[in-house]
Amino acid sequence: MLDRIQSFYGFTRMPFGRDLAAGMLHRHADHAQATARIAYGIDTRGITVITGEVGIGKTVAARAALDRVDRARHHLIYIPDPTVGARGVYHHIVTALGGKPTFHTAALIPQARNALAAEASERGRTPILLIDEAHIFDHNGLDAIRLLTNHELDTGAPFATVLLGQPDLAQKIRYGILAAFDQRITVRHHMTGMTADETAGYIRHHLSLAGRSDPLFGDDAIGLIHTNSRGKPRAVNNLCLAALLAARANDKTIVDEASARTAITETSDHATL
Ligand SMILES: Nc1ncnc2c1ncn2[C@@H]1O[C@H](COP(=O)(O)OP(=O)(O)OP(=O)(O)O)[C@@H](O)[C@H]1O
Ligand SMILES: [Mg+2]
Repeated sequence: MLDRIQSFYGFTRMPFGRDLAAGMLHRHADHAQATARIAYGIDTRGITVITGEVGIGKTVAARAALDRVDRARHHLIYIPDPTVGARGVYHHIVTALGGKPTFHTAALIPQARNALAAEASERGRTPILLIDEAHIFDHNGLDAIRLLTNHELDTGAPFATVLLGQPDLAQKIRYGILAAFDQRITVRHHMTGMTADETAGYIRHHLSLAGRSDPLFGDDAIGLIHTNSRGKPRAVNNLCLAALLAARANDKTIVDEASARTAITETSDHATL
């Protein structure tokens, strides 16, 4: 089916795919701000917290920021799945830095801290602890991060911490013992998605990457897609693909308002929207 869409519309590749290289990303303001803040947080070895709804572009912004970092002088420790819990995080850090995690949980915390400090002082590489989907952490998991980032005031952090998560992450961190961690956050950004103009630009950008620089999507269709996606890139991608399928099914050379409406009806019960 996708093959037939590709040839029918003369695409050189399928538009609205997920596999864009960092240099090909769309630079709407929200993306640019999140990326700049993550890069700044890494440069200053701070604690960065980026929140936003599902599919708003958090992971993509982190990828874009990492693309700017000198990899020879940094060591990325990426924890994509916080269901591993507190022990799992320490374990992951020690292993990623070439150590053998100790069996005793109490000893694992200083081991992880020392491994992070040694990477900076002995190898001259700043570790970047990037935790994706951090809202999944339970209290103990977040407390593990608090303990790790609880440096002595005068020495400064030997590593950068970046937390990405859905909006409730910000609330989770604010209370109880975690408030101490909240106060140490140096950079925060809540992602809000694209404006109507940016969504239109985003759609044109994807289409031109696929070899169609002319207006393939009508303005009405773009307007509907923006309203229903609320400017969230993943939802825009999904709606645009569904609209292309609907237009193709009716042999339409332009993705018109009716095609967008069909797409919205078809995808409205999908969790990704
Ligand atoms: N700046 C951008 N340029 C091009 N495409 C983008 C951009 N930002 C996001 N996208 C698209 O939107 C999709 C969702 O982005 P991303 O995975 O970063 O969202 P997320 O906020 O991490 O979502 P989740 O909460 O599900 O992890 C990406 O797979 C990509 O296709
Ligand atoms: Mg993500």
